[in-house]
Amino acid sequence: MLKVQNLTKDFGKVIAVDNVSFEVKKGEIFGLLGENGAGKTTTLRILATMLKPTSGTAEILGFDVVKNPEKVRLHIGILFGGEAGLYDRLTAAENIAYFGELNDMGKDEINERVKFLAKTFGMEEYIDRRAGKFSKGMKQKVAFARSIIHNPDLMLLDEPTSGLDVSAIRDVHDFILNCKNQGKTVIFSSHTMSEVEKLCDRVCIIHKGKLIDIATIDDLKKKHGDDDLEEIFVRLVGGKNEA
Ligand SMILES: Nc1ncnc2c1ncn2[C@@H]1O[C@H](COP(=O)(O)OP(=O)(O)OP(=O)(O)O)[C@@H](O)[C@H]1O
Ligand SMILES: [Mg+2]
Repeated sequence: MLKVQNLTKDFGKVIAVDNVSFEVKKGEIFGLLGENGAGKTTTLRILATMLKPTSGTAEILGFDVVKNPEKVRLHIGILFGGEAGLYDRLTAAENIAYFGELNDMGKDEINERVKFLAKTFGMEEYIDRRAGKFSKGMKQKVAFARSIIHNPDLMLLDEPTSGLDVSAIRDVHDFILNCKNQGKTVIFSSHTMSEVEKLCDRVCIIHKGKLIDIATIDDLKKKHGDDDLEEIFVRLVGGKNEA
């Protein structure tokens, strides 16, 4: 599904992603774990064809993200937190539907999907209200629904549950698990260990742009002789001032 080889991105002096390689199989839920500034968003932005790597390659379903970005975009849904970018004057439904149109979906197909997503994310009450005055969480749910309107094979989600309430988080978790059941692939970043443990088949721990470890949660626990993922994480990324 996805193959990343020696991926590197530097922003001048800052090496945000440093020679990272990994593969993700179809149907996997793959988590990116790392401290603030570790390079998670940068990695996801490269995979999402929003940013060119300095060197190295990434392929999604055999398509190179730099050489074939249009092909890649047909197969991915992307959600980046903090930049909901909804049209204030459009309703939630219209915001979501607009992305369907951009993805060449038919009207009936779009309507059906909007209904399904409104139900899935508990947005039915406000689906026909203008998005301008929505709360942060409401906006985030609309942005999530919008990013997956075209039912993509691979979802790239940057901190998808950050800022959501308990039941909304649960909706997102259930949705991600359902995607897996349908053979979809999900790559997401998170700072919440319980979320990562609940959802991920495998996790990748990144620190200062470098890949520190990549394994199933069980294997990580066995390998590091600890049952507490948070402990393992803190140990792996080391003290604050370590290189
Ligand atoms: N456009 C940019 N220009 C310059 N530096 C950048 C840019 N984008 C990211 N960086 C730098 O790259 C590094 C990695 O940032 P990134 O946003 O990928 O981290 P992150 O793992 O997503 O962190 P967080 O958990 O805080 O979201 C940081 O040092 C950041 O300052
Ligand atoms: Mg980030």
